[in-house]
Amino acid sequence: MRNILIINGPNLNMLGMREPDIYGTQTLSDIEEMCKDAAGSLGFEIDLRQSNHEGEIIDWLQQSKDAFDGLIINAAAYTHTSIAIHDALKLLDYPIIELHISDPKKRESFRHVSYIEPLARDVISGHGAKGYEMALKKLSEILN
Ligand code: DQA
Repeated sequence: MRNILIINGPNLNMLGMREPDIYGTQTLSDIEEMCKDAAGSLGFEIDLRQSNHEGEIIDWLQQSKDAFDGLIINAAAYTHTSIAIHDALKLLDYPIIELHISDPKKRESFRHVSYIEPLARDVISGHGAKGYEMALKKLSEILN
C-alpha cells in the first residue's frame, strides 16, 4: 500500500459554492470520496487535506518527507505567489503532481506563473474535479 498526500490550498474548502462556472459544483468532500474510490483500485491510501494558511501547508510538506510516497498539490492562489512552498517542495524526493481544476494558463495573466511547476513531475489542469483522479493515475504510472 502506498501513501499519497493530497494538499489543497486556500479557498478550496469553498468548492461547490465558489465560482461554479469555473470550478464546478462538486465539493471538496465529493472530491475526497472520488479520490478514495480511485485510490482503492490503484493500491493507494490517501490523505486529503485543505488549508487556507501558507505556513500550515509548509509544515505539512516538511512532515511528509518520510511518511508519503507521492504528492498531489493544488496550491490554489499560492501556486502563483509562494516561493516558500516552492522551497518546501525542494526538500521532497517523492514524485509531485501539480493540479488545478481550471486551467490557470488560460485565465488572467497573474495566474500564468507557477512556483510549483519547476518541481512537478507533471501538471494536470483544466479537467475539473476529474483531474484529481487523473493525478492519482499519473502517480501510479510513475511509481510502478
Ligand atoms: C486553482 C487555480 C488558481 O489560479 C486559483 O487561485 C485557485 C484554484 C484551480 O484549481 O483551478 O484557487 O488552483
